Amino acid sequence: MSFRIDIVSLLPEIIRSPFDSSILMRAQKKGLVKVYLHDLREYGEGKHKQVDDYAFGGGAGMVMLAGPIFKCINELKSQRDYDAVIYTTPDGQKFNQKLANKLSLKKNLIILCGHYKGIDQRVRDSLITHEISIGDYVLSGGELAAAVISDALIRLIPGVLNDGSSALTDSFQDNLLSHPIYTRPSNFEGMKVPNILLSGNSRKIEIWKAEQALKITKAKRPDLLED
Ligand code: 6GU
Repeated sequence: MSFRIDIVSLLPEIIRSPFDSSILMRAQKKGLVKVYLHDLREYGEGKHKQVDDYAFGGGAGMVMLAGPIFKCINELKSQRDYDAVIYTTPDGQKFNQKLANKLSLKKNLIILCGHYKGIDQRVRDSLITHEISIGDYVLSGGELAAAVISDALIRLIPGVLNDGSSALTDSFQDNLLSHPIYTRPSNFEGMKVPNILLSGNSRKIEIWKAEQALKITKAKRPDLLED
């Protein structure tokens, strides 16, 4: 089983590097995921490879043309079936762990990165299956959002993390933030690791971790405990 993400963007170079190091690179080398970056400019119209134009009805900012996007995405769709065509946009559904879990079960995804003032509405109406925002703030383009979404999905694919259990014990997987963690030395310049973690009593340690997670969640993110 292989997972494939096709990212369609006017600035693919912005997102090359996150996929070329660490966990995301290793996942690709292991053959667990394939990531393809597509430069929309190559699908541009006419001699100047035009990809945007002024908005009908006026208003500031350029709008991405429907033509190049349809051409690129339809070409991809003619080669294989896609489970979702995601558009990154600040007015989309807010991305969270639950949506990441759901999308990580898919096989072939397209992520179209938004830019300028947006894209021609006809693309949204007929090609896009999911409109996703990564938070309530505005980025200058959808590329970083596409990298964030891809990272969150790829680390959930079985075999990507060395310890198969670790993605499931992350913060948010049970609507709780993580308990504090420590490594050596047990006493760093007088700052000591809680005794319980050195006790070797695994049942008590598990209870402590659960209590701490709950306490930290209540203090920092009480909204997570409401659902
Ligand atoms: Cl997906 N795109 C842009 N441009 N800004 C955002 C965003 C996406 N999510 C939050 N802010």
